[in-house]
Parts: sequence; C-alpha cells; structure tokens
Amino acid sequence: MNDVLGEAILALTPDSHPPLKIVMVGHVDHGKSTVIGRLFHDTGSLPEGKVEAIKAMCDRRGMPFEWAFLMDALKAERDQGITIDVSYIHFRTGQRECVLIDAPGHREFLKNMVSGAAQADAAVLVVDANEGVQEQTRRHAYLLHLLGIRQVVVAVNKMDLVGFDEGRFLTVTAEVKHYLADLGLDTLHTLIVPVSAREGDNVVTPSASMPWYDGPTLERSLDSLHPPPTSSDLPLRFPIQDVYKFDDRRILAGRIESGHLRVGDQLLFSPTNKTARVASIEVWNTDEPVLAARAGQSVGITLDEPIFIERGQVASQTFNAPMLTSVFRGRVFWLGHKPMLPGNRYKLKLNTAEHLVEVQEIERVVDVSDLGKSAADRVERNSVAEVVLRSRGLMSLDPFEVNLHTGRFVLVEDFDIVGGGLISMDGYADQRPGQVQKATNIFRVAHRVPTEDRWAANRHKSGILWMTGLSGAGKSTLAFTLEQYLFRKGYQVYVLDGDNVRHGLCADLGFSPEDRVENIRRVGQAAALFAHAGFLVITSFISPYRSDRDRVRALAPEDFHEIFIDADLEACEKRDPKGLYAKARRGEITDFTGISAPYERPILPEMRVDTTQHSVEDCVALLADYVTSRFGL
Ligand code: ADX
Repeated sequence: MNDVLGEAILALTPDSHPPLKIVMVGHVDHGKSTVIGRLFHDTGSLPEGKVEAIKAMCDRRGMPFEWAFLMDALKAERDQGITIDVSYIHFRTGQRECVLIDAPGHREFLKNMVSGAAQADAAVLVVDANEGVQEQTRRHAYLLHLLGIRQVVVAVNKMDLVGFDEGRFLTVTAEVKHYLADLGLDTLHTLIVPVSAREGDNVVTPSASMPWYDGPTLERSLDSLHPPPTSSDLPLRFPIQDVYKFDDRRILAGRIESGHLRVGDQLLFSPTNKTARVASIEVWNTDEPVLAARAGQSVGITLDEPIFIERGQVASQTFNAPMLTSVFRGRVFWLGHKPMLPGNRYKLKLNTAEHLVEVQEIERVVDVSDLGKSAADRVERNSVAEVVLRSRGLMSLDPFEVNLHTGRFVLVEDFDIVGGGLISMDGYADQRPGQVQKATNIFRVAHRVPTEDRWAANRHKSGILWMTGLSGAGKSTLAFTLEQYLFRKGYQVYVLDGDNVRHGLCADLGFSPEDRVENIRRVGQAAALFAHAGFLVITSFISPYRSDRDRVRALAPEDFHEIFIDADLEACEKRDPKGLYAKARRGEITDFTGISAPYERPILPEMRVDTTQHSVEDCVALLADYVTSRFGL
C-alpha cells in the first residue's frame, strides 16, 4: 500500500528535464564565436533587432559585419552586475531548451566545471576545415576528457574556404575520430557536421553547396543528444549528515542527493554494508505522514532495526549501490598556496564523509592558460591535474560521469579548502563485489592434520612467494626457474602463473579492472589453500593493484611474502617477449598495464629483485637464499 501511495506522490511531483547544457570548445581562430553567433541567429534565439544594431554599428565604423561581434555584444550586456565568472546563455533548437556555458578563459571555465559550479552535458568541438586537427584542437579535446563530457558534436567549420570539398571533410573527420578515440570518447556515435558558419551552411539550414552530405545539421545534431538524467532518475544516494536521538528513536538526517526513497524500502549503508528498512520519513513543518521523498529534499528517516549508523555513511538501495574503493583518480583544480606533492596527505570530503587521503601519484598536470602539459612532479596553485588518491579504509563514491552529486570531492588542509575535483574510476575497480559472501548456512570444518605436521613431514615451512611486476619484468621466468631449483632440492613447491590460470581457473576473466580484481582474488584464495596444504607456492601475476595484494596478505599474514620483480616500463617494452607492448601502443590491446592501465608499485615488499641489474641466475640465487632463510630445508 505504501509503495502505491509513494509512487503516486512521486508521480504527482515530477521534476522536469533541465535544459541541455552545452559548452563550445575550439580555437578562436577556428570560428567558435561565429558558430555560436550563427546558431543563435538562425534558431531565432536572439533578442529582436540585435543583429541589425550590430550591422548598423559596423556600417558606421566602416567594418565588415562579423558574427563574433554579436557574441561580444551579448557578453558585454551580460557581464554587467554579474560576479561569477561563468555565464549561461539560453537558446532554443527545434526540439529543446539549451544553455550555452561560457567563461572568459580556460582557468575560470575549468575552475567552475571541476568545482561543480557549472557542469556541461555535451560539447561542440569546432575544427577548422582548412587547418584540421592541430595542437590546439587536441588540447581542447583533452579538456572534454578532463571534464568527462562524453557527448560531442564536431563542427568542421569554414567549409567555404575549402570549396565545400568532400575529400577534405573526410580527411578531417578521420583525424578527429582518431584523436577522440585516443581519449576514450565514443566515436561511433559522434556526429561530425561540415558547416560554414559564416555562410550559414548546415548550421540550421541544410547546405545547398554540400549535396554529398546527407547527415543532420548542427541544430539537428544537438537535438539528437541525450538529455541529462534528472537527479531523481538516478539511483538513491542519501548521505547521512547527522544522527539525532529522540526518545528511544534514532533519526538519520541528511539531504537526498539523488534518487528517491519510500517507507518500506530496504536500504544499504556504505561503506559498512549494513541494511535496514525505512520505518518512517520525518519532514519538518508538516504533520502529514510522509511516505516518499526525493532528490533535493532534506529529510530524516527512522529504520526498522537498531543498526549503528554514523555521519558520513551513504544510504542507497541494495541494488545500484555506490562503489567501494580505497583508491581513485581525481581531476583536481588546485587552489592551495603550497603545491600538491606526491606523498602529501589531505582531508578529503565526500559529501558528509571525511577521509584522510594520500597523493599516490601525480599523473598529469595541465597548464590552464593554454591547456598544455606541465611537469608532473607537483601541482601549483590554479592548475588542473590528474592525480591518484588513496585512503586507508574504503570510501563509498561514484564516478562523476555516473553521479555528479557523489562523484566530486573537496580537499582540505589545515581547515582551508585547497582543491576540488571530480572522481574517475578509470583503471580502478569497485571493491564491493569481493566483499560479499553469497552462500548462507555454511559451516567451517577443521582439518585433523595441523599445518605444522605438514611442515614437519616436508621439512620446510609453507607460504606464498607473491611475485608482482609489469608484464615482461621477468616474473614467470624467475618463478619457473626457482620452482625447478627448489624442487630438485626437495621442496614441495608449485607455481601459479597468470597466463596459465587464465586458461582454466580464470578463463572467464579478461583485463578490465573488475576482472583483474577477481583474477587476483581467486588466485589469492588458491595460493592460500596451497600454503595451508603445506606447499611453498610461487605466484606470478602482474597483480597491479595494491589493495588486491593486501587482501591476499590478509588471508595469510604470517606466510605472505611480496616479491617485487622490478623492471621499469622502458626495459619491459624493449624486451617485449610476447610483442604485446607493440600491440598496445598500436591500440590493438586496451587496458594494457603500464600503457593504458595502472600498475601500483609495492611500498614495502619483503624483497625487491631488479631484473635490469642482475642476470636470471643471480636473481634466482637471491630468491633461493631468501627461501632457505625463511622456510628452512
Ligand atoms: S593481472 O593483471 O590480472 O594480474 P595476469 O598476470 O593474470 O594479469 O596476466 C598478465 C598476462 O596476460 C601478461 O603477462 C600478458 O601476457 C597477458 N596480457 C594480455 N592482455 C593484457 C593486458 N591488457 N594487460 C596486461 N597483460 C595482458
């Protein structure tokens, strides 16, 4: 009954789709302002008489009319009395309301986008037909990647200057697609439109000069973009702000950031993974019973079970829960007076949660004045960077492409906000799946042969030698040579190798972050069983994630030995025993460790073996010494 009523209440108060927010990027010289001016004019979005007024002014000054003047005029008006440095200009296409987000420069733009003050749903990338993709275009396209904008329409402008030539258009199209694909954007569905903004071809009116083009005009392309989901359409995210005690009831209060909840809903709290049902919804200033609430509302709820919930937990439905992770990639706008350095620690605020995080890596720093790359050893004030942040415990979050509300963060140092940014999980996996045990009614049975008795029979202790390192670092070579050597000396020893288990135990797994996590989880469990059975087990897996290796360590803390087989990317790529690096560089293998997927070096491994400095024999001798000293025989 509650369900039905709740649905009805939600249906009665629909929130309408917001207008599509668009950002125009591209080099000024490629005609960005002209495209905007023409689009506004031809869609009838300009105030009456505006164009005529500017034309008259041009006549008076003896200048030819330029569409760009129109933008300047619109801006001049808009700037009066406006203090924020991003502005919104509304216009209508045939099908929908749009808003153009405009900022005076990249710095203001990035700051607002990254901090959440402005967020674009789609972008129009303007490319000059004559010049094609140039460094500037690459930088602008990179901006789209930074901001996670996946929907892009490309306007190949100034077609009039290349004689409306189809061949030239196809060449530029191929260049653009190639570059967008490199950035991970979907080029299959990217619309690329040949236009002449100055002449008005294919902006709103189909071009008579380009009969070879039968695709949509720029206006129609904008119409075909997906509308942004409303906050209520997204899965429920209800970060708990406070817990109040009234009588013997506990009220969990906060703001619903996205989705909706109803009395009776089963909620999951992250990161603790506790569940309970909503017993009541308490809203201030009303005596009416409230059965449902939605995004944007501040509410209190009570639960049907007395579970312990603290500020910072996020309530969701049991399906569609936020991700759990101890590491993510942040696209940060840095405001700190002191630079951000690798190894620095900051307080991270994620909605109502706070975590201590460490800067694991600075991957790329962007100079915001020209969007060029800077040295990546530090992030200075007012620059944008891609960094990897790590916490000790699990954080519950969403990639910001999935949910803007729970996909951003703020960094604080000494009570000052020093940065803000967007969360990306590219290259990292949700750590939630490995945490749940599905089966119930299962009971452990004890062995009657203690492990110590197995050790006595084998005359050596058992354990796991966990080799980690890049592909081509030499893990398998060392593992199998060491196995042979130890076996001949009388050890019960066995190698678990990545390429081998992927033919059987892990044949269903590929190389996505999630599959790698599962690969290492299974192999870790298998290794722990071998160790329990009295074996010395040598594993040879890239195992790129620190958290996965730590999880295996936790299975057998006394018996786990992390061996870092160290060879830098350059050396591995030079060796390239299987020709895989070459394939990865050509884009034929995606998610390739070191090239397009992360590798996290061990921090305090039990042993490090540098295969660029020592021969195989020397490395095996070092490892054999280590084994004898730790395991006996
Ligand atoms: S792990 O990341 O899940 O630990 P694993 O060690 O099992 O990887 O497998 C790595 C081996 O698979 C590499 O040595 C290489 O031969 C092969 N391989 C194929 N595709 C990839 C890829 N995208 N990234 C890394 N290795 C790959």
